[in-house]
Amino acid sequence: MQLPQAQAAVLEAASAREAQSIDELAAVTELPPETVTGAAFGLEEAGLVTVSERVEEAVTPTDEGIEYAERGLPELRLYEAASDVGAGDEPVPMGQVIGAADLEGAAVDIALSNYARKGYGTIDGGEITADPAVEPDADPEARTLDSLAEGGAVSGLDGESLEALERRGLVDRSETTVRELTLTEAGVTALMEGVEVAETVGRLTPALLTSGEWRDVEFAEYNVGADAERIEGGRVHILRQTAERVKDVLVGMGFREMEGPHVDADFWINDCLFMPQDHPARTHWDRFALADPTHIEELPADLVEAVERAHREGVGEDGEGYHSPWDEEFARALALRGHTTSLSARYLSGHEIGELEPPQRFFSVEKVYRNDTLDPTHLLEFFQIEGWVMAEGLSVRDLMGTFEEFYAQFGITDLEFKPHYNPYTEPSFELFGTHPTTGELVEIGNSGIFRPEMLEPLGVDCDVMAWGLALERLLMLMYGFEDIRDIHGTLCDLDLLRNTEVTY
Ligand code: PHE
Repeated sequence: MQLPQAQAAVLEAASAREAQSIDELAAVTELPPETVTGAAFGLEEAGLVTVSERVEEAVTPTDEGIEYAERGLPELRLYEAASDVGAGDEPVPMGQVIGAADLEGAAVDIALSNYARKGYGTIDGGEITADPAVEPDADPEARTLDSLAEGGAVSGLDGESLEALERRGLVDRSETTVRELTLTEAGVTALMEGVEVAETVGRLTPALLTSGEWRDVEFAEYNVGADAERIEGGRVHILRQTAERVKDVLVGMGFREMEGPHVDADFWINDCLFMPQDHPARTHWDRFALADPTHIEELPADLVEAVERAHREGVGEDGEGYHSPWDEEFARALALRGHTTSLSARYLSGHEIGELEPPQRFFSVEKVYRNDTLDPTHLLEFFQIEGWVMAEGLSVRDLMGTFEEFYAQFGITDLEFKPHYNPYTEPSFELFGTHPTTGELVEIGNSGIFRPEMLEPLGVDCDVMAWGLALERLLMLMYGFEDIRDIHGTLCDLDLLRNTEVTY
């Protein structure tokens, strides 16, 4: 019998009494495993061997995982230091505890975020407490990691901790298909009768083509179903991909894109939106103020005057305003924008691209910054999908219809609306969607129709409906993840990013 070279070698190395794995055969034949796999399938097809398959799961600690198995998980080291320094649940300065825990660089963030996630104590205003009720020795993630680092088997380990460790990049989980070969009777007979190597050509070369030899040679068969090494190429982050898609959808709906500064004067972020200067969000540490420079140099004088008048006296015949203090210096203070409605104010004012005649539609998909407490749905920054429509005679039905049209493009058709309050819109609505796996209602945006107190000073005498939607929340509804930190920051889930299919 004539067989291609690799098949002949594998057939000779295989045995009828004992199943041999592809790796074992690769070692004996000195052929690459993928060649042996290809040969195995060829031989199986010819009835000379049987190939059995089973899936083996392996979980191995990464370098970082091994380090933590030796030195302790960063959050545990932090907990131990906090309870040593604070002798219980007394708040102690963070710096001191971090020093005592011997944490540095990225390990500090890792320790803090996991400390918070596991509820080991509180972290507030630069101080940390250690909850005495916590039993650090019982930490399930630490126990699971230790067992794996000692070479323990995967079966019997706590599934939830395994997942957490995997998400933290402390273990790699892999599944491999192990294939084993045994000679059939026909295979044994073929060996006894003698096997010859058939010369086959694996690759078509320019020489074969020019000489015309390709007409006479025998080509090796390819098995495109065989396992191959997995190569992880780079790819665009799903957040960025979705941002681009949102832009495409809005452009398709007739919107134009706005651009503008991430750091802006409070005037554009708040005052133009009829946000009183004593509003809690403005005095609070809700806001990331700029230290250098602290103030914008110039504001348009006519607009400042009109905005000040609206705040002090209101607009229209029965307008009241806030009768509150209004200070231009306060309005010139610079901060990272907490919403991109600052861009809407700039464009509506006519100071960005000139006076706008209705109808108009504008949007942006840009970063905003808020000093929130980190949790599964909040980060210090996120992407806001800002938008507005300027037209005569707009109503709430137009607003709701626009959202329905927009979200339907992403497969979201179960929107719910809740009345809300914004100083700059009346009426105002929050938007909710249903999380695909937990079934919970998730807030996905805020919207409304701009008030005359906002529009009149900006010189707009026609209706404007507007919104700010969270891109990350849209992704949550599309892809079903539950923690925003899976797609942002140090705890980001690389497998999720690699494997999420982007639907277009
Ligand atoms: N600025 C609002 C927010 O950040 C969103 C919004 C924009 C609401 C425009 C109404 C009108 O939540």
